[in-house]
Amino acid sequence: MNPTPAIAPMTAATLTPPRAVVDGIGLSISDEDYLRFREYFYRETGIYFENGKRYFVDRRLLERIRLTGSDSFHDYFLFLRFQDRGEEMQALVNAMTVNETYFFREEYQFRCMVRDLLGDLRSRRREGETLRIWSLPCSSGEEPYSIAMYLLERWPAIDQVDVEIIGSDIDSRILAQAREGLYQKRALMQLPTSLQQRWFKPQADGQFRIDDGLRESVRFTRLNVTDPLQMAAFHDIDLVFCRNLLIYFDEASRRKAVDLIFEAMRPGAYICLGHSESMSRISPLFKVRKFADAIVYQKPL
Ligand SMILES: C[S@@+](CC[C@H](N)C(=O)[O-])C[C@H]1O[C@@H](n2cnc3c(N)ncnc32)[C@H](O)[C@@H]1O
Repeated sequence: MNPTPAIAPMTAATLTPPRAVVDGIGLSISDEDYLRFREYFYRETGIYFENGKRYFVDRRLLERIRLTGSDSFHDYFLFLRFQDRGEEMQALVNAMTVNETYFFREEYQFRCMVRDLLGDLRSRRREGETLRIWSLPCSSGEEPYSIAMYLLERWPAIDQVDVEIIGSDIDSRILAQAREGLYQKRALMQLPTSLQQRWFKPQADGQFRIDDGLRESVRFTRLNVTDPLQMAAFHDIDLVFCRNLLIYFDEASRRKAVDLIFEAMRPGAYICLGHSESMSRISPLFKVRKFADAIVYQKPL
């Protein structure tokens, strides 16, 4: 990857306030370390840490330095970059991502999906052709499982159409949780009680286990949305939910991610963004479509 980031210049002077963080046992991350790390992590993942994220980043870095037994940031950074199999990079990514999500988040888009989008998409498919829906990023699975639930509960045509739901995320730990399908009560708060009762089994420890059929209806894969090689494996997607991801990227990564997603979509396919994200500032490739429940973006036919 060789992005040319449209981001703030990487100088220690841009950090406010300039400082070094020292933890309880004397490890420290200087301003210069922080900037080098930020640049590296950005190139690898597309995630850009604003200066205000310094504390968040430092805490997690210091934890990884301790857990790997490194003597200093310098040792750790060498280990991170030159470790053959990239396991530490994955552990670090897992520590740095923000995985906040819940069932039926921004439900109006699921309503739009069953009222307007699926009928249109289906009308352009040949008999027996699979409709492919992609939750990218899917975090711990609440989004793709909500899609599956919505289809089963609210889309009468589900019996006549073959639908594939894919959930992808860069965070391997959160994907393991998604596959497991065990949730805390608060993840279910937006779900009507009838759906909670139908699709979840309360566990002795207070968690809720998702129904096996639902669990098996989603295919989870690890993926970095800014990596062209990894993205090239995906194609013929009909509907993308790309919600609350682009807010963590800078402009250049947003454009890159959206261009790669565009390539993976069929002509006429739709993409839904999070409520605070707008395609108009990122890419001119999509048509804006206004439906009764939501504004979504469409790849031209
Ligand atoms: C806040 S969650 C959003 C989950 C869900 N779409 C929602 O709206 O509830 C953001 C997710 O983006 C994932 N992520 C961050 N950078 C990524 C990248 N480069 N490629 C794929 N996923 C990424 C994180 O691991 C995290 O799980």
